[in-house]
Amino acid sequence: MIRFEQVTKRYPDGTTAVDDLSFEVSEGELVTLVGPSGCGKTTTMMMVNRLIEPTSGRIFVNGENIATVDPVRLRRRIGYVIQQVGLFPHRTVLDNTATVPSLVGWKRAKARARAAELLDLVGLDPKRYGRRYPEQLSGGQRQRVGVARALAADPPVLLMDEPPPLP
Ligand SMILES: Nc1ncnc2c1ncn2[C@@H]1O[C@H](COP(=O)(O)OP(=O)(O)OP(=O)(O)O)[C@@H](O)[C@H]1O
Ligand SMILES: [Mg+2]
Repeated sequence: MIRFEQVTKRYPDGTTAVDDLSFEVSEGELVTLVGPSGCGKTTTMMMVNRLIEPTSGRIFVNGENIATVDPVRLRRRIGYVIQQVGLFPHRTVLDNTATVPSLVGWKRAKARARAAELLDLVGLDPKRYGRRYPEQLSGGQRQRVGVARALAADPPVLLMDEPPPLP
C-alpha cells in the first residue's frame, strides 16, 4: 500500500530530517512512528502526500511512484490530520468536515449527511456543534473535527500527526 525506498529529506539549510528510510505498510495495517521531537515523523508523513518532496529515494502508494502522480489527485485519496489541526476558520464545523466530499463532487445533501455522521462518530453532536466555527471549540474538539474531516471521503490512506504539546 505504502512503500518507502531509501528516502532522504535534506532541507536547504543542510538539516537531514529523514535519512535513508525504507519501510512498507500493507493494506489494513496501522503503523505508528515513534521518536523524539524533531526526529522526522512529520516530514515522513508529509512526503506521502507530497506536501514535502524527498531529496532522494522513491515512495510508492498502491504500486504507483507518487512522483508521477498529480499531487491534488494523490491527496484526495489520503486523509491527513495535520499537527496544527488546520481547520478553515471561516467555515462551520459541518462544512469543514464536508470539505473533501464536496471537493470530489458529492451532492451537497449527501456531503452534509456524511459530515454529520462523522461528527457523531468522534463524539460531537452535529446539532450542537455543526454550526459553530472552529474558534468556538476547545482544542481537543478541534482535533476531533480534524479527524472527522480526514475520514469523511473514506480515503484508503489516513495520515495522522499527533496534536502539539500544550504551550
Ligand atoms: N523547513 C525546514 N528547514 C530546515 N529544517 C527543518 C524544516 N522543517 C523541519 N526541519 C527540521 O527537520 C527535523 C525533522 O522535523 P519534523 O517536523 O519532521 O520532526 P517531528 O519528528 O515531527 O517532531 P515533533 O515530534 O516535534 O513533531 C527537525 O530537526 C526540524 O527542525
Ligand atoms: Mg511532528
